[in-house]
Amino acid sequence: MNLNDMNVQALYEAHFDAPPELLGWSPGRVNLLGEHVDYNDGLVLPAAINRAVRLAAGPAPDGMVDLVAQDLNEQVTFRVDQLEAKLDLEGRPLPKWALYPASVAWSLGQAGYALPGLKAVYTSDIPIGAGLSSSAAVEVGFALVWQALGDWQIERMRMARICQRGENEYVGVASGLMDQFTCAHGIAGQALFFDTRSLDWQPAPLPPNTALIIADSGVRRSLAESEYNQRRKDCEQAVVLLQEHLPDLRSLRDISPIELAAFGIHLPPVVHRRAEHVVKEIARVQSAFSALKRADARTFGALMFAGHASLRDLYEVSTPELDALVDIARELPGCLGARLTGAGFGGCTVNLVEAASAQDFIQGLQTVYLERTGRAAKVYVCQASSGASVREIAG
Ligand code: GLA
Repeated sequence: MNLNDMNVQALYEAHFDAPPELLGWSPGRVNLLGEHVDYNDGLVLPAAINRAVRLAAGPAPDGMVDLVAQDLNEQVTFRVDQLEAKLDLEGRPLPKWALYPASVAWSLGQAGYALPGLKAVYTSDIPIGAGLSSSAAVEVGFALVWQALGDWQIERMRMARICQRGENEYVGVASGLMDQFTCAHGIAGQALFFDTRSLDWQPAPLPPNTALIIADSGVRRSLAESEYNQRRKDCEQAVVLLQEHLPDLRSLRDISPIELAAFGIHLPPVVHRRAEHVVKEIARVQSAFSALKRADARTFGALMFAGHASLRDLYEVSTPELDALVDIARELPGCLGARLTGAGFGGCTVNLVEAASAQDFIQGLQTVYLERTGRAAKVYVCQASSGASVREIAG
């Protein structure tokens, strides 16, 4: 048992005066390529990372849910049979953080699973709102805990989709499936090549002798959720307008970059830019997966830089700070590729760097970023990790 597991276990005992029955671990993710395409039936290349939510949990009587968010120093109690109103036991609105576990309970209930009550304490070292999927990690972690306490088993892809539905319909963020998928399916040392239309996936080897480095710009943008939902609407509008000319089109997955060049004239400029990003990003993921299979780190890195430029200029989800991180990275020795990761609007970049240059790269990026922006960036190597898991504590 590592130190963090012991911490969360001790916290549970301190709060609830009894030992937990379960310990859970649920990772964040970094997306290497394929951004804003998972809600367009596209292809993505994420990896689960060694930053995670840790949970300690045990049963509670009468459908009561008693949650402690240790990092926020907050506690909330609600009931599994009174989720629709999004209120706690005293009738106050559930705090934002509690909507994520509650959304999982709601969505499991919608899917027909009988939910037991639970007590849980959780803590996380995934920065919130940084593009590393802190919410999906909470969701999948709680889904696994509920499964362990309940009398049922859910296949992992189905579990990921149940969590996504909760986020879409209960929390109100129209996210795709990438984050929950990655958290549930991660493999140590590997990226995952995931087709969000067919739901087929396979491990993708990371380039040999390279390091994945995450750089946190330190900037969070508060309107990110409404901007995210707006991007999704722009894509839906592109599909509706293109269908007038291409009746078989179901999503932006169905049109090639060359066809879009021919039919894009029918789209308003903003919608055209959004569609162009999506269509070319899906093509980039296809090329990037081929590059990974032949251990071609240079091509992979070039596709990452191209992906960033597209997110900046066409999808318009970057920030000056993320652009600065990518521009600085490009000039540093050993940097093969860099791009913003996750939804954007602030958060982190992901960098592919020759392993031998990793430590100098980290120092160089921090130093020049501080000089240029006056901000301190947290920069660290991350490891591709296994997916979420829950285990019983021997009693
Ligand atoms: C967020 C969403 C994902 C995906 C990314 C952008 O992380 O949760 O579904 O859309 O943004 O690629």
